[in-house]
This record gives sequence, C-alpha cells and structure tokens, in this order.
Amino acid sequence: MANNTLSVTDNRTGKKYELPIEEGDVIRAADLRQIKVGKDDFGLMSYDPAFTNTASCRSRITFIDGDKGILRYRGYPIEELAEKSNYLEVAYLIVKGELPDREHYERWENNIKIHTMVHENIKKFMEGYRYDAHPMGMLLGTVGALSTFYPDANDIHDLESRRLQTRRLIGKMPTLAAFAYRHTKGLPYVYPDNDLSYTGNLLSMLFKMTELKYKPDPVLERALDVLFILHADHEQNCSANAMRAVGSSQPDPYACAAAAVAALYGPLHGGANEAAIRMLMEIGSVSNIPALLRKVKEGERRLMGFGHRVYKNYDPRAKILKEMAAQVFEVTGRNPLIDIAIELERIALQDEYFISHKLYPNVDFYSGIIYQAMGFPMTMFPVLFAIPRTSGWMAQWAEMVRDSEQKIARPRQIYVGEPIRHYSELASRPKPTQREDAVSEAI
Ligand code: CMC
Repeated sequence: MANNTLSVTDNRTGKKYELPIEEGDVIRAADLRQIKVGKDDFGLMSYDPAFTNTASCRSRITFIDGDKGILRYRGYPIEELAEKSNYLEVAYLIVKGELPDREHYERWENNIKIHTMVHENIKKFMEGYRYDAHPMGMLLGTVGALSTFYPDANDIHDLESRRLQTRRLIGKMPTLAAFAYRHTKGLPYVYPDNDLSYTGNLLSMLFKMTELKYKPDPVLERALDVLFILHADHEQNCSANAMRAVGSSQPDPYACAAAAVAALYGPLHGGANEAAIRMLMEIGSVSNIPALLRKVKEGERRLMGFGHRVYKNYDPRAKILKEMAAQVFEVTGRNPLIDIAIELERIALQDEYFISHKLYPNVDFYSGIIYQAMGFPMTMFPVLFAIPRTSGWMAQWAEMVRDSEQKIARPRQIYVGEPIRHYSELASRPKPTQREDAVSEAI
C-alpha cells in the first residue's frame, strides 16, 4: 500500500477506499464522491462553512505560516521588503513573480504612471455621489464603473489585455481614492502629479491646496509606502476570494475588483482598522481597558484589530507598524490612542482568554493609529487598504485565469429546508400568528 494515501473505511457499507494525499497534506474533496452507500447515492461531500479547512487553489504568490507569524511575497520575507523595497517594486514582484532589474523597474514605474489619469466622465460620475457618501462606497461604485470605460478588458484570456488592465487599475486606484476623499471634503479634485512617487502623488491628490506644487513630507511618504507594502497581498483572504470567485465566471477584472472592494469594506476585513480606532476612542483611557476586556471575554463584543483566521501568533505586519508609529509621530505629533493600544495589547497578551484563543494584534490594530496621526479621516482607512491590495487582487485574478484546474466557483450546499409541499390558496393558509416565527427567521 502506498504511504501517501489515506485509508478510509465506510462503516455504513464496510467498504475500504484509498485516497491519494497530494503535496501539502491535501486530499481532493472530489475523491470523497466515490464513497457511496448505493448506486444512486450522490457520494460523500465535505462540509466547510467559511472554508476554514479547504484550499480553493494552488498559488505561488503569498506564503503565510500562521503559527510562526511568517509572511512572504513570492518567497521574500515581508520584513526585508518593508525595510528595503518600495510599493511599486513590490507590486511588480507580486504581479510578475520576480523582482525587476533596473530597466524593468523603470519601465514598470512609467507604465503605471501613464495610467494615473482617469476619464473626465469618471470625475462627473463621482460628482453624482451625495456629499456625505462613504469614500469606500464611492470607490466600490467607481471601480465597477471602470468596466464601462474599458470594454477591451473583457478579453481576459489575452495576456497583453490582462497586463494592460493591471497597469491601469494599479495606476488609477490612488486617483479614484483621492477623488472620493476630496468629494467628502467639498474640495476640487486634484489631478495626478507624475513627477512624484506613487505615494507622494497620492498625498498630493489628497492634500494639495493652493500651492503650485505639493511637496510630500519624506517621512510620511515613506511611511505610506511601507503601509502599502504590508497591505499588498495576503493570500486567500475574503477580498482575494471574492476577486477569484467573481472572476471565475469570467467578467472583466474591474467587475471582479469591485467585488473585492466590497468584501474589503466589511468591519471583519479591511474595515477593521476603522473599527479598531473607534474602539480605542470609546475606551478613552487606560483605566477603562479592563472593563472592555471583560465584555470581550463575556462574548458581548470583539476586540477589533485582534485575531486572525490564519495567524495564531503575532501578525508580522503589526510588529512592523508598531515600530514605525514612533517615526511617524516625530513628524505628526503623538496620537494619544497609541498609549491605550499598547496597554491594551500588554494586558490582553497576558490574559488567559487571549492566550488560549491565540489572539494577537493584527495589521489593523496599529495601521489606523498611524493613518489618523497622518490626518486621514477614519472613513478613508479601508480606502487606503484597497489601493495597495489592488496588486494582490490582480495577481490572484491572473493566476486564477491561467489555472487550468479552475472552473466557475460554485460550492455545494446541504439542503435543510422543507421537503416537497404543495401550493395552497391564499384563503386556506395558516393565520399570520402561526406563521410569524417561520417568516421572521427567513430575513
Ligand atoms: N475578540 C475576541 N474574541 C475573538 C476575536 C476577537 N477579535 N477573534 C476571535 N475571537 C474568538 C471567538 O469568539 C472564538 O471564540 P470561541 O471559540 O470561544 O467561540 C474564537 O476566537 C475563534 O473565532 P472565529 O470567529 O471562529 O475566528 P475566525 O477565524 O472566523 O475570525 C477574524 C477571524 C479576523 C474575523 C476574527 O478574529 C475577528 O473578528 N477579529 C476582529 C476583526 C479584525 O480585527 N479583523 C481584521 C483581520 S486582519 C486584516 C484582514 O485580513 O482583513
């Protein structure tokens, strides 16, 4: 008997099966289908709500070892990239698989920069949003709208088209994000300045007032670059999964990216940095930390910016941000919420509940404190997450499109509803009081 197999005995029938174990300690869920009680039986299925133990793809992009707190893009440790690289170089690495040489880097930078402008109609389109629209909602709608501007993007099986859409979207995201921000402020939109770096230009489009040329503070420009490196990809997270799932029905990548932005919007994903800051503001003082932790332990609420599906150790991104916060505060002044955050982390990491549940700070615990110190309103935090994550989404999407094993994403279900029943006339149905419970459960 081969060693790399799993022997299964179905006690219902006494039959034995040998399931191959593939590299990475994986069995194919479809192999379970041969396990049947009878000829007409559908076969065994695995049940895995929220995919907690199901791999949906093979990927070469990002590696995470959640127990050890390791994150690598294309094999390169996140700590080295955060220290030595810049976002555009990391985006190249993520999208293309290798670090560029000088010539390729310069070409890539130029290729991104020539796509920073958006069609004037996009500006008009954005003007249509209400004055108090959430910038992430605006970004979501506008990224989807790009689909209508680039009908050529439908050609998803063409390599050159995929490359073009990738450059376009990475180039345009800062512009869309900045327009959304300026809209909420009632300020005129600022056009891109391609003399500046990727993050320097973003700062210019966000904060330029009447000066002829905006000069970004080099410390803040670099801090934003590091934040962008840390947020560029994170393997099969909720938004990458949305990008792939929508992409599997083969629409253009802008439609997929709109779905990814929508997934990122939620407070359990990219919205967590906003939720974490709101929580720290609500705590208000270190003396109130024990009361909040009591509520968390009693299951009344969650500690936002803590916990992760994959990391069961300190999120390496949070470690880098915690150290970087001090450099940012030298320019911006200290954000007093950092004291609450550090004390909250200290107490939580000694507490049996957090130790036994393996709950550590994640990237969102410190990123919001830095963004707030830099002058960003909380509603911009998830938008600032979406800009750099675009390179990860496009890489995940392109990998999915090229993967011959992928098909339209279509999970199975276990039907637990009513068995067949027959239509009754309105007048003969049970009175509302008898039906109330069933109806209210359905919404
Ligand atoms: N505070 C308190 N308890 C928690 C927390 C938390 N933040 N996170 C998980 N737990 C507990 C949870 O109550 C459960 O306990 P028990 O087993 O006793 O019922 C256990 O830990 C496992 O939780 P889970 O909900 O099954 O874990 P998950 O893998 O489904 O959730 C998570 C992962 C990130 C959604 C969750 O940890 C969470 O809600 N954290 C707060 C939101 C947050 O910070 N999100 C940002 C994630 S990092 C950035 C990104 O990738 O988007």
